[in-house]
Amino acid sequence: MRNITIESNNGSFNYSLISSIEGVIGKIEGILNSHSCFYIVDSNVHKIYHNQFKHLFNQKNCFVLNATEEYKSFDSIYRIYDFLLENNADRSSYIIVIGGGITGDTGSFAASSFMRGTRLIHVPTTLLAMVDSSIGGKTGVNYKKYKNFIGSFYEPEQVITSSKFLSTLKQEDVLSGMGEVLKYALIDSNFFDYCFSWLDGSLDLPEDDLLYLIGKSAQIKNDVVTQDKKDLKMRHSLNLGHTFGHAIESVSGFSVKHGIGVIAGMRGATYLANKMGIMEDKVMEKVLDLLGRYKVDEKINTYSTDSIYLAMQGDKRE
Ligand code: GLY
Repeated sequence: MRNITIESNNGSFNYSLISSIEGVIGKIEGILNSHSCFYIVDSNVHKIYHNQFKHLFNQKNCFVLNATEEYKSFDSIYRIYDFLLENNADRSSYIIVIGGGITGDTGSFAASSFMRGTRLIHVPTTLLAMVDSSIGGKTGVNYKKYKNFIGSFYEPEQVITSSKFLSTLKQEDVLSGMGEVLKYALIDSNFFDYCFSWLDGSLDLPEDDLLYLIGKSAQIKNDVVTQDKKDLKMRHSLNLGHTFGHAIESVSGFSVKHGIGVIAGMRGATYLANKMGIMEDKVMEKVLDLLGRYKVDEKINTYSTDSIYLAMQGDKRE
């Protein structure tokens, strides 16, 4: 298996998809030779991989973050600031955030604001983080009842990852990540044709297919984001199906994972577009065919249409 590096038109997107976790570690070691590094690590990742990373992590450089929504908060941010201060981090230090979306958003917000911003590297370990949240510089925490309400746009210098991290991911989390991959298929017609021909709903994908899906998704996301970094227009396309999706997540009390809500949400958006007369029947059928290969009904059909509709009206879209 090869390493993939995605270059961007503006030269600033440094995304390495590496064939092994040892390769990811090797790349971090290269940075560590000349800089002080601090790690903010997802508690689940720390549990599984701390042995492999043990020569890098110590008590003075490794902050373990509980990766649940309630810890995506200012309280965690203050604890990270204290940890960085106590251990003499400064603006030239690298903060290396290792984990899924919650750790990525929280850790990168701390990195963007500590001493007005340190150097930042993302090591996404979930499919969703690999194809979505580690790309495009959105950082943030929840505030009161609002999700991702306070944050910043702050791009990492590098994203370094390996599909090997996915071998320890729960199937539900792989399905959630696939929700975002399918979203890119609906944004890019060539990618749609590929997905339509090759994806059958299985979550156990051959390594090469997985690499292609991650690399292509990351590329599409980066292409969209570079046209609208501050999310004022073009980037809104990345919210496809998300108004429905967020509402489903919200009425489930966030027991439905984000990307699973997005799969159901894109189905809702597809029906709606057809009903509004802006999507032809045959396009709708093809889109629903692809989305329907990923089974999510069991997870969402206990929620009433009325409650989803009500929640949609309060959606902020991020
Ligand atoms: N996840 C949507 C965005 O990054 O804009």
